[in-house]
Amino acid sequence: MAAFLSSIIAGSALLSLANAQNFGGGSSSGGFQYIQPLNTTIYGEYGHSEPVYPSPNITGNGGWEVALEKAKAWVAQLTVEEKADMVTGQAGPCVGNIVAIPRLNFSGICLHDGPLAIRIADYASVFSAGVSVGASWDKDVMYERGVAMAEEFKAKGAHVILGPVAGPLGRSAYAGRTWEGFAADPYLSGIAMEKTITGHQDTGVQACAKHWVANEQEVQRNPTYDTNITTTKTKNAVSSNLDDRTMHELYMWPFANAVRAKAASFMCSYQRINGSHACQNSKSQNGLLKGELGFQGYIMSDWGATHSGVASIDAGLDMNMPGGLGPYGQNFGTPSFFGGNVTAGVKNGSITRVDDMVIRIMTPYFFYNQDQDFPSVDPSTADLNTFSPRETWTRNFTLSGERSRDVRGNHAELIRKHGAAGTVLLKNEGSLPLKAPKNVAVFGNDASDDVEGLLNQQDFEYGTLSVGGGSGTGHLSYLSTPLRAIQDRAAQDNATVQHWLNNTYIAETEDWNDVWLPTVPDVCLVLLKTWAEEGADRLHLSVDWNGTEVVESVARDCNNTVVITHSSGINTLSFADHPNVTAIIAAHYPGQESGHSLVDILYGDVNPSGHLPYTIAFNDSDYNAPPTTGVNTTGYDDWQSWFDEKLEIDYRYFDAHNISVRYEFGYGLSYTTFNISDLQTTPLSSNISALPADLPIQPGGNPDLWNTVYNVSISVTNTGSVAGAAVPQLYVGLPSSAPEGTPVRQLRGFEKVHVEKGESRTVGFELMRRDLSYWDVVRQQWVIPEGEFTFWVGFSSRDLVAEEKVTVVRGVS
Ligand SMILES: *[C@@H]1O[C@H](CO)[C@@H](O)[C@H](O)[C@H]1NC(C)=O
Ligand SMILES: *[C@@H]1O[C@H](CO)[C@@H](O)[C@H](O)[C@H]1NC(C)=O
Ligand SMILES: *[C@@H]1O[C@H](CO)[C@@H](O)[C@H](O)[C@H]1NC(C)=O
Ligand SMILES: *[C@@H]1O[C@H](CO)[C@@H](O)[C@H](O)[C@H]1NC(C)=O
Ligand SMILES: *[C@@H]1O[C@H](CO)[C@@H](O)[C@H](O)[C@H]1NC(C)=O
Ligand SMILES: *[C@@H]1O[C@H](CO)[C@@H](O)[C@H](O)[C@H]1NC(C)=O
Ligand SMILES: *[C@@H]1O[C@H](CO)[C@@H](O)[C@H](O)[C@H]1NC(C)=O
Ligand SMILES: *[C@@H]1O[C@H](CO)[C@@H](O)[C@H](O)[C@H]1NC(C)=O
Ligand SMILES: *[C@@H]1O[C@H](CO)[C@@H](O)[C@H](O)[C@H]1NC(C)=O
Ligand SMILES: *[C@@H]1O[C@H](CO)[C@@H](O)[C@H](O)[C@H]1NC(C)=O
Ligand SMILES: *[C@@H]1O[C@H](CO)[C@@H](O)[C@H](O)[C@H]1NC(C)=O
Ligand SMILES: *[C@@H]1O[C@H](CO)[C@@H](O)[C@H](O)[C@H]1NC(C)=O
Repeated sequence: MAAFLSSIIAGSALLSLANAQNFGGGSSSGGFQYIQPLNTTIYGEYGHSEPVYPSPNITGNGGWEVALEKAKAWVAQLTVEEKADMVTGQAGPCVGNIVAIPRLNFSGICLHDGPLAIRIADYASVFSAGVSVGASWDKDVMYERGVAMAEEFKAKGAHVILGPVAGPLGRSAYAGRTWEGFAADPYLSGIAMEKTITGHQDTGVQACAKHWVANEQEVQRNPTYDTNITTTKTKNAVSSNLDDRTMHELYMWPFANAVRAKAASFMCSYQRINGSHACQNSKSQNGLLKGELGFQGYIMSDWGATHSGVASIDAGLDMNMPGGLGPYGQNFGTPSFFGGNVTAGVKNGSITRVDDMVIRIMTPYFFYNQDQDFPSVDPSTADLNTFSPRETWTRNFTLSGERSRDVRGNHAELIRKHGAAGTVLLKNEGSLPLKAPKNVAVFGNDASDDVEGLLNQQDFEYGTLSVGGGSGTGHLSYLSTPLRAIQDRAAQDNATVQHWLNNTYIAETEDWNDVWLPTVPDVCLVLLKTWAEEGADRLHLSVDWNGTEVVESVARDCNNTVVITHSSGINTLSFADHPNVTAIIAAHYPGQESGHSLVDILYGDVNPSGHLPYTIAFNDSDYNAPPTTGVNTTGYDDWQSWFDEKLEIDYRYFDAHNISVRYEFGYGLSYTTFNISDLQTTPLSSNISALPADLPIQPGGNPDLWNTVYNVSISVTNTGSVAGAAVPQLYVGLPSSAPEGTPVRQLRGFEKVHVEKGESRTVGFELMRRDLSYWDVVRQQWVIPEGEFTFWVGFSSRDLVAEEKVTVVRGVS
């Protein structure tokens, strides 16, 4: 959802809005209008969003048929006013609230942030962030975390988890929210979406896949409003302008996995898509999501992303959150583009699909049996919720049940494990794992306790970063810091642990031999951090707080300097080749067990097996696709972000242009070594067609796209001296007959496998039809190209150990 919290902190004016694009009183017969006519001289061949109407009805396809009938029968009992209530958020205890209908025993719907924790809660866990989960490349971790998170949401009475995130995907290295999602790659992100959603929903809580779609920067994601709390927008939200192939092969891809996993809900995003607001974009909602992907659930707006009534409804929006008008939806409840306006619109005939909207909302509710014995909303929620405090409530919410429920269970154990699983060892000249060092020194303002509470909403100078800020954060109930965990672990060796936490002091210190006692430490652990939050893009790709100078100062006198970053993701690590920097660890955002997760890796209790879910280049300027950070003109619609790089984001770009990088996508070291051998490829049919069979749409799209057409297997051997987990990765290069702009190679399979020392294990990859296809913009179809494919299996996108060329389809399609 919205970072209205961080926006408030940032001092943005919070204004009400009534710049009705075209509401509701029935003024528009067609029910929709574009905000501005598009100028094709400016907008070029893309940047235009075609109209797709009407909005498809739910069919219950894919297993929801019985729940759909229940929902239909239930909705048939509602009055028009009740239907309007069902599609409109209200101020209440949760981040999003649908009011109860007591006469039907319906107790309402509680929606909560977010993708790594139930944010507005006491005695709840803060899990590892999406970037850590992506870096684990571990399907079991993805699922298990999804289950554990959902257990906490459910026990607190939340019906809907506002997560997971596949948008932003990671078009730009600078984007402020990429860490909430999993990877700068649609395949890895897609698997993580599917596993997380399945984990959430197996536990009986609805997932919300967000933010649909092409939500790739924070700057100008929302319109600018007149500073005087008027009704006027002065500049429109940025428009993500992208072509159809890029939409399908990059940005839609992981969301297709989410639909296939039967995500109950989707959240449309703040920015515009090809010129039209995401939440009233009929092409993306009616066309791509409900049409092509066969999505059966409901689309809710991001908080304040609704800019119209009828226009949005006709374009496929099903629920307006948080309900009220305003740039960040901060006016919960009324007035609203929905609410009373929906009642009026239904009565006068300008809104015709309200039943489908409510049925889409209630079908997953019944499917997950949320009408039966679902826990009540924890009364403490209402007091912790600063977004819609009690005095703003205009509707009745009855809170009951145990207050301040402790829902954490044994999740700390899992979080410790997940944090370590998402930790990537980037460099190791043999200094790790630590071997009972007696003299340990710890440096950096990321080492120790936060000094101003545990809410993770600001980039305080002192305190370790366990996760980032904005709506995707969590409220810590405690935090295992690196310093405390290192002290505790080092005590087992009767070691001394000296520490310096002031980065300015560390950077300015010229001679450490005068400072540390009694001699050079056995190991110097330098903890660095990089903040990222919703509502702001990163300004640089370095570490924060003079971290580079901190490393250089320590390494000048300490020949065993180990650098650890807690970061949202990409850091260019200019000190990586320093001879005294003997190891580098990217610990990402590990969650509340941060310190424990780290010592498990440092001391070798856990053998690192994380791999980068993005590329670390040499310089900030090596990355393409920067966010649009400013426009020099003052036109209302001038904020345009052209995705001209098309498919060339992250490794696809560096590979296409043969650019050297520091650590490539998929890279990560272990304390052991592995080898790959015995690559075998087997088609599942002797006659694979270029086009998918013409089958009725199911959730996820044409089901034939998800059928396995090729099996690949390898043998992975642990050739080192300790047990460990390998991540063999399968990359596919399409034949030269594929259209121009096709990436050199793309991830199409991975597994994490535990291998004992000396042991070999067989690993299989199933290539589905979609994995071998490109999106043909003319045929509007996934097509397997003719000619020779290359299958590579290796340990990163550039460490390709085994290779085989195969022809998948023959003859003309
Ligand atoms: C479209 O933009 C071009 C370039 O700015 C301008 O010359 C032209 O007049 C515009 N067309 C319309 C119809 O506004
Ligand atoms: C959706 O269902 C309603 C009610 O049966 C029907 O009137 C409407 O035409 C349907 N819409 C579409 C797009 O099929
Ligand atoms: C509502 O729930 C109560 C308590 O669970 C039950 O006694 C009552 O029969 C229910 N009413 C309806 C209309 O389902
Ligand atoms: C906002 O209000 C102040 C005080 O009335 C006025 O001076 C200023 O010009 C107004 N700004 C805008 C953008 O209207
Ligand atoms: C209907 O929407 C308009 C904005 O178009 C708003 O000003 C008005 O207050 C809304 N009405 C209700 C009842 O929320
Ligand atoms: C809240 O409930 C009480 C008692 O049921 C009722 O009298 C009151 O009108 C309700 N208030 C609102 C705002 O619905
Ligand atoms: C630590 O010191 C205690 C007390 O002298 C001793 O019993 C123990 O063996 C020492 N442990 C190590 C690992 O040196
Ligand atoms: C950090 O060190 C600098 C330089 O020595 C000093 O000026 C500053 O006061 C120190 N900050 C704190 C919080 O001690
Ligand atoms: C630390 O960073 C600040 C601001 O970026 C800079 O002014 C200062 O010189 C740096 N200090 C050192 C010792 O590098
Ligand atoms: C590495 O550390 C040693 C001290 O152990 C120091 O003498 C040497 O100059 C350092 N090397 C560099 C490149 O700073
Ligand atoms: C690091 O410095 C220490 C102390 O000067 C020395 O004993 C050790 O051999 C050095 N290690 C390396 C790898 O140079
Ligand atoms: C804005 O103007 C500056 C200075 O002329 C230029 O460097 C920059 O590229 C321009 N930005 C855009 C988005 O045109």
